[in-house]
Order: sequence, then structure tokens, then C-alpha cells
Amino acid sequence: MSKYILAIETSCDETACAIVKDNNQILSNIVSSQINVHELYGGVVPEVASRIHIENISLVIEEALKEAKITIDDIDAIAVTQGPGLIGSLHVGIQAAKTIAWLYNKPIIPLHHIVGHIYANKFVDELEFPLLALVVSGGHTELIYMEKEYSFEVIGTTQDDAIGEAYDKVARVLGLGYPGGPKIDNLAKTGKENYTLPIPKVENPYDFSFSGLKSAVIQLINRLERRNEEIIKEDVAYSFQESALSQVLKITDKALNDYKPKHLVLAGGVAANSRLRELMQDMILKYPNIKLTIPPLWCCTDNAAMMAVAGSVAYDHKLFGDLYFSAQPSKPIS
Ligand code: KG4
Ligand code: ZN
Repeated sequence: MSKYILAIETSCDETACAIVKDNNQILSNIVSSQINVHELYGGVVPEVASRIHIENISLVIEEALKEAKITIDDIDAIAVTQGPGLIGSLHVGIQAAKTIAWLYNKPIIPLHHIVGHIYANKFVDELEFPLLALVVSGGHTELIYMEKEYSFEVIGTTQDDAIGEAYDKVARVLGLGYPGGPKIDNLAKTGKENYTLPIPKVENPYDFSFSGLKSAVIQLINRLERRNEEIIKEDVAYSFQESALSQVLKITDKALNDYKPKHLVLAGGVAANSRLRELMQDMILKYPNIKLTIPPLWCCTDNAAMMAVAGSVAYDHKLFGDLYFSAQPSKPIS
């Protein structure tokens, strides 16, 4: 018999609901983005985000059911992002999920947002274990080792800013607007190696750091402004990106060497970065026994289909919640 999972994702600034059949067949994937509102402020304003989630959540759920051409009676379980994320935003999705679960007597599955990003890869490939996931997003920069299905060990993390946060901040000081990642990605394509920026160093071999690099970019821009010199935005974007990504490459390379997984997957919004995708494809040539999967662009950034596929696997492991769990803004993955 087929299995239908309805998932709700509201951890940041996308109100999203998706329905997935039998682990990876997407019947609907509705994302209502708030980017046009937040870009007025240069970043996500948490209070505003939760208010817009409240306005949109019922419509997004209705739309997901309509597009999937099924009714709530056909759904086997409701999956929802419990954390990490913005507390007010998470709360809206969780309340909606609990209400449906209670009203229609369906099991509920609380999920970790990053687990969704990792399982998004199931839309394009079978996951093979042991697996190493490089998670690069607006809130996370982590290397996660999965010895088997649904088991997660964080082997490295950022000691300060997430990589996406650094992209957004650098874009902001260059006056490029929010979200900055795609803008820097594009601009860097025509940039040259004109400015020297530091490659951050961290003691723990699998940890990352981006705040020093971010400060170096800010100092560079201040210095150029003080001297009335032209700021060549393409070149700043190029140098920042090369420096940030060379750190990511080096650390991932070391982890592949040490952990020898069968599969490397990329996950999170920054996995949409064209230069990172290119560098990873080059690096994996050194490892003929390791499969590389990079999620398609549409499922790198936040969406509910990825939460539904993670929910399907959690359903198979009977990882159900009760109606009393609450949002966990800093939920640990394991
Ligand atoms: O996964 P995501 O949608 O939300 C979080 O869970 O954080 O990631 C959003 C982040 C933002 O920081 C955005 O600037 C970054 O992903 N991003 C990119 C690109 N597309 C999105 N960063 C670099 N290059 C891109 N092409
Ligand atoms: Zn995300």
C-alpha cells in the first residue's frame, strides 16, 4: 500500500507544505516565499516572518492537498520542522501540524531541518552508507557523518558564522541586497583575483570559521572608501568566494580521506552555489570509490518536499511525536 506524508516547513522565511508518496514521489510542493518583504529590510525580520507565516499557512496546506489531488484522509502522517530555526516561525508550522494531526487523528513526526536538507538528495539518488553530508546554509555549516540510515554524527561545525550568513553579510556591505548568496555567486563569475583575503584557519581539523573572513572584507571596503579608491564589486565577490570555498574544500577533502564514506552529499542553500558545485565535482575525481550527489537547484533552498522525504524515512523508523512537543530553535541533530 502506498504511503503519503504531508510535511510543513516554516523554520525561516518560507511558508511551505508538500505531499510526498512512497518516500520520494512529489505530488505537490508549495513554497510561499517572503523574500520580497524581507529584502526591504536587508535580512529576515523574525516578527514579520511569523506574522506572514500565520497569514499563509492554511492557504499553503490547502493548495498542497489540491495540487496532489488527494484529501487529508489519504495522508498517513503529518511531518513538521521542529527546529532549528526562528522560534516564532517554527511555532506557526508546529501549531498547524498539531491541529491537523489532532483533528484527523494522524501520527505526527517532528523533524530536524537539516535532516530534510540531507534527505533532499533522495529525490535524485539512492543514499549509500556510510555517508558524509556537507551542510552549507544560512544557519549551518556542518560535516555530518551517517554510518547508517537516519543516524547522524556532527564531526565538524562552524566556530562562528554560517557560510550563508557570511555570503549575506558581504553582499549587504557591497549593497547587493538579500539574499546575498546568489548575487555574489553571479558577480564572482566576472571577478578577478585583485584583492587578497585570508583563508580562515581553525584548530579542530573538521571545523569551519567565517567571521574573520567577513571582517576582512568589511575592512577592505572601509579602506578603499577611505582612500577614495574604486570598489570593484566583482573582484571582492570573487576573492571572498574563493577564500570561503577553499576552506570548505580543504576540510571536506580531509574528512573524505579520514572517514572514507561511500557517498558524499551536499545540502542546504549554499549547495546551490555554482562555484562550489564545480569545485566539488573536480575534487571527487580523486576518489573513484565515493559517489557525489549534489541536489538539484530547486531543492537546495528551504522547501517542504525535503521535509516530507525525511518524514517518510522517520515514519518507517516509527519516530512519532506526541501533541506536546514544542519548537526547538537550537534543536540538536542527534
Ligand atoms: O537552506 P537555506 O534556504 O536556509 C537555511 O536553512 O539557512 O539557505 C539560505 C542561504 C542564504 O544564506 C543564501 O544566501 C544562501 O543560502 N544561498 C547561496 C546561493 N543560493 C542561496 N549562497 C551562495 N550561492 C548561491 N547560489
Ligand atoms: Zn535550510
